[in-house]
Amino acid sequence: MNMKAWQIKTCTGPSGLSLNEIPQHQPRAGEVLVRIRAVSLNYRDLSATRRERPGNLPLPFTIGSDGAGEVTAIGVGVTKWKVGDRVIPTFFQDWPAGGITREVMGTALGGAMQGVLAEYHVADEDALVSMPDGLSFEEAATLPCAALTAWHALVGHGHLKSGDTVLTLGTGGVSIFALQFAKLHGARVIITSSSDEKLEKARALGADETINYQTNPDWEKQVFALTQKRGADHVIEVGGAGTLQKSLDAVRFGGRVSLIGVLTGFEGLINPWPVIARSVTLQGIYVGSREHFEAMNKAISLHKMKPVIDRVFAFEDAQLAFEHMAAGAHFGKVVIKGLA
Ligand SMILES: NC(=O)c1ccc[n+]([C@@H]2O[C@H](COP(=O)([O-])OP(=O)(O)OC[C@H]3O[C@@H](n4cnc5c(N)ncnc54)[C@H](OP(=O)(O)O)[C@@H]3O)[C@@H](O)[C@H]2O)c1
Repeated sequence: MNMKAWQIKTCTGPSGLSLNEIPQHQPRAGEVLVRIRAVSLNYRDLSATRRERPGNLPLPFTIGSDGAGEVTAIGVGVTKWKVGDRVIPTFFQDWPAGGITREVMGTALGGAMQGVLAEYHVADEDALVSMPDGLSFEEAATLPCAALTAWHALVGHGHLKSGDTVLTLGTGGVSIFALQFAKLHGARVIITSSSDEKLEKARALGADETINYQTNPDWEKQVFALTQKRGADHVIEVGGAGTLQKSLDAVRFGGRVSLIGVLTGFEGLINPWPVIARSVTLQGIYVGSREHFEAMNKAISLHKMKPVIDRVFAFEDAQLAFEHMAAGAHFGKVVIKGLA
């Protein structure tokens, strides 16, 4: 049997994607067949279409790490799931709990392993979590990477407390989830964006302070002023080389910078002195484990939190979804529906 899948054929950006017929595997012992009902995009997927980061798989390969769907068949010996369950494949297919290892890195969907922008996905029964109550497939598909990364940074490592100040950069997937989780925990949020319109939307979601980083290139000084010269307790650093120095200047003594993204690139000079002098915790974050995912989903269900979706595209229009993301006009997540 065959199925349709969006695959990277040439690394020329979204135009290099093609809709191909590929074999649809049946679940073996311990495996589950999931019909994919929605997929969300991450910046990483866009990078993959350009091969900005080394990919492990030969071309063509199926793109996408974040999907949600329903179980349509189970292999021999599967006990955790039954047909009809609404599930989400974990970003790392083999990271149940604990710290990340080299082996975990080899189990990333849409990177080291074939992705989920296809009709079906076969997963080990331990590589799935239940969808949080009350979420649509489109909403649930936003969670495996961006949401979990923000949760892992702020709650898993950051032990976020009510009254803390969180600084989050930009209004993409990770940052908007960081805003939502911070508000859920009673924290104060300072958010930056290149767009005043997006900052208004962030305010509507509960952001306490907003800074346009284009009209205020010294935004770290503004953060300092907004925190009575103390600095933020947590910084969600998604900019990388171009913003890290400013983030280090915007965090308080003893504060935490979660190093997550590379939107401004990989290379640049960083002065490590603020890290030393202010005893800053500089923590690399790479998505999160299934244990973190399950904890996050419990909180999402309890608080009836709704992921912020910018736009939903039809399966056939996947290239348009990638182009929309590349244009940078989105606020929150870009989603592609599964094949009807
Ligand atoms: N380590 C991990 O586990 C992990 C997980 C997920 C993502 N990431 C990384 O985190 C980054 C963000 O990913 P994403 O999926 O959230 O991306 P995204 O949804 O495409 O978000 C991009 C947004 O970032 C903002 N931005 C761009 N340049 C900026 C700058 N110089 N300063 C501040 N904000 C800037 C823009 O917001 P405005 O339009 O508001 O200006 C842009 O819309 C990427 O580098 C991605 O690879 C890492």
